[in-house]
Amino acid sequence: MTTTHSYDEARTERLRADALAIIARYPEPRSALLPMLHLVQSQDGFVSPAGIAFCADLLNLSTAEVSAVVTFYTQYKRHPNGEYTVGVCTNTLCAVMGGDAIWEDLSDHLGVGHDETTPDGKVTLERIECNAACDYAPVMMVNWEFFDNQTPDSARDVVDRLRAGDEVAPTRGAASVCSFKQMSRVLAGFTDGRADEGVGAGEPTLRGTVLARERGWTAPRFPAAPDAESGSGAAGSAVPERAGEPATGEPQSSAQRPATGQRDKDADTQTSTSKES
Ligand code: FES
Repeated sequence: MTTTHSYDEARTERLRADALAIIARYPEPRSALLPMLHLVQSQDGFVSPAGIAFCADLLNLSTAEVSAVVTFYTQYKRHPNGEYTVGVCTNTLCAVMGGDAIWEDLSDHLGVGHDETTPDGKVTLERIECNAACDYAPVMMVNWEFFDNQTPDSARDVVDRLRAGDEVAPTRGAASVCSFKQMSRVLAGFTDGRADEGVGAGEPTLRGTVLARERGWTAPRFPAAPDAESGSGAAGSAVPERAGEPATGEPQSSAQRPATGQRDKDADTQTSTSKES
């Protein structure tokens, strides 16, 4: 764990190489801040003061600016996180389907409350908001892997096995749950090659599609957009084009324009060229 306000030389160099790879993905360096904070968590298990200083230094931001982002998002941890974040969904649907009961039971069983970690450093317990898995309610997440259709007993069994060091498999998705630091590295954009493991969309998720196919149901057509010239509807146009702008895919449409940062640089280059001539 790092608690000082800077990394040693070896660690800085190792992190810098990864951070530069992240920064290279964006037209503006500061856009790399979110994945860089995940990178810091993959190193320290939370966003440490040294990690904040590292990001600020590389992105030419103040530490106050970086801290403002860290404190805005709950996925960034401001104190050392456990090896496994166990999130119990207590949003409306999961709550009425048993999420509240699971939360109460796990909190009693582990002896910790929201955003608190068990003394062995294994489990950080959280109440979480809807994870778009309401068709499997009540849902629990472990390091953002799905544990569907849980009960207080099944949830208790999962955390007991995690704390015992057993390999634990979610109910769909990856074949096993990875650690908080490993997960953070993936969120920083460094793949572990496991994205396609297991089943993503299970039977309840696909039920609507299956029913629609069986019964020949289709979605209504998107309303026709007004024609820029005549004001009449442009049948078949799924996305309204703005007056005076080329349609998507045509030369100089938005799909063809350079990114904003590049446009600014091009404009600067043109300005300085015309000044010189
Ligand atoms: S309410 Fe829990 S996943 Fe949607």
